[in-house]
Amino acid sequence: MKYHIVTYGCQMNLHESEKIAGILKEKGYLSSAPIEEADIIVFNTCCIRENAENHAFGNIGALKKLKREKKGLIVAVGGCLVQEEGKAKLLKEKFPFIDILFGTHNLDELGDLIERKRAQKKSVVSIKEARSATEDGANPVRTSYPNAWVNIMYGCNNFCSYCIVPYVRGRERSRRAIDILREVEALVAEGYREITLLGQNVDSYRGEDGTTFPALLDAVASVEGNFRLRFMTSHPKDFSEELVAVMKKHDKICKHLHMPVQSGSNRILRLMNRRYTREKYLEDLALLRREIPDCEVTTDLIVAFPTETEEEFQETLSLVKEADFSSAFTFIYSPRTGTRAAEMEGRIADEVAKDRITRLVALVNEKTREKSAKYVGKRIEILCEDRDEKKGMYLGRDEYGRMGYFKSERDRVGEFVTLKITEANGISLYGEEV
Ligand code: SAH
Ligand code: SF4
Ligand code: F3S
Repeated sequence: MKYHIVTYGCQMNLHESEKIAGILKEKGYLSSAPIEEADIIVFNTCCIRENAENHAFGNIGALKKLKREKKGLIVAVGGCLVQEEGKAKLLKEKFPFIDILFGTHNLDELGDLIERKRAQKKSVVSIKEARSATEDGANPVRTSYPNAWVNIMYGCNNFCSYCIVPYVRGRERSRRAIDILREVEALVAEGYREITLLGQNVDSYRGEDGTTFPALLDAVASVEGNFRLRFMTSHPKDFSEELVAVMKKHDKICKHLHMPVQSGSNRILRLMNRRYTREKYLEDLALLRREIPDCEVTTDLIVAFPTETEEEFQETLSLVKEADFSSAFTFIYSPRTGTRAAEMEGRIADEVAKDRITRLVALVNEKTREKSAKYVGKRIEILCEDRDEKKGMYLGRDEYGRMGYFKSERDRVGEFVTLKITEANGISLYGEEV
């Protein structure tokens, strides 16, 4: 029997899909297959913005015919969208053919839900409000060798006014440092070469005995072996000198910080409930670069938050120039029912929002291109992670997060490779092995 998983959303969700695959495997679905050949199809949904949600609705709806034609096919829908208030009901009404609905707080029940579904005709639904356990017992089927993701915490307590994550993922729960360390040691022993520690806000990590995030990072970076270490996401309000000191101390830790700033306007940051100012953010970057001069910083930006003026948007543009990001994810504000911002007046018209995002993307791309161009003629060391069949090239990222492409006669996935860069295109660099 075969499975097919469709994933939407963040890295957290991608990793959760690996855990779902692990659970399916235990239930006898031994390999992944194209959607038409699968015996079980799982949608692992996201609801961070309206388009993520629409995407899932569209894809699930498109399954109606296959479900009618294929006897015994099980369709399961899980993830953040299911956890959003009223959405499980809506999904059932719109798509009565869904067999299993499961939330983000009961991943470990999925195996039982599948058994129950096999035993009965009726669909099974299990959605929990919250979860206190931090170990889910899942043995993930990892799909991103040589990279491995490791959850250090779940949920979020920050309640940024635009964001639905705290509502669908619940309160912050940290895993025990000892469990995280064991997982990392096992992964390194298995040959994984890049470990990424995951949390909505890693700086809030509190392990047993009050272990802080810098202390955890220090411990993980001290694990023996040939690997490099990443972590995401960092919240600017919790940026600390201790974090910088640990990053500086260990060569294993990539010189890259993903620290979403969201906006360059203090008034908008306040409305977003972000709890830092533009000035504080820039000071922190200055400190980081004083200590680790070549550290690259990436960010997330939202345009057209309710009441954002043209001048305030300009402040985001000027911040992008000052902060010298190597790249950025850019989003148009999307109202999420139940969040504080969704109740705010002063929605920005679609045309204005589109115009702002176009200008922002142009600036971000220009900065990225400028930075990449500086690499031509230089050497970078990448961890080869895949082959791009279309380009006929291998690819991987350097510790700063830049993508390097090169040609090779043999499979190089999982190896550290040094490239001399001959050409730059956006964030991608092309080079020859040296
Ligand atoms: N916990 C992380 C990631 C949150 S989701 C963090 O705090 O940075 C990733 C990004 O999606 C956010 O950084 C934000 O830029 C964006 N985002 C979240 N909610 C959004 C919304 N309602 N509309 C538009 N973008 C949103
Ligand atoms: Fe959402 Fe803010 Fe939590 Fe990030 S820190 S998940 S943006 S509420
Ligand atoms: Fe991730 Fe989307 Fe949920 S961004 S936490 S899958 S709402």
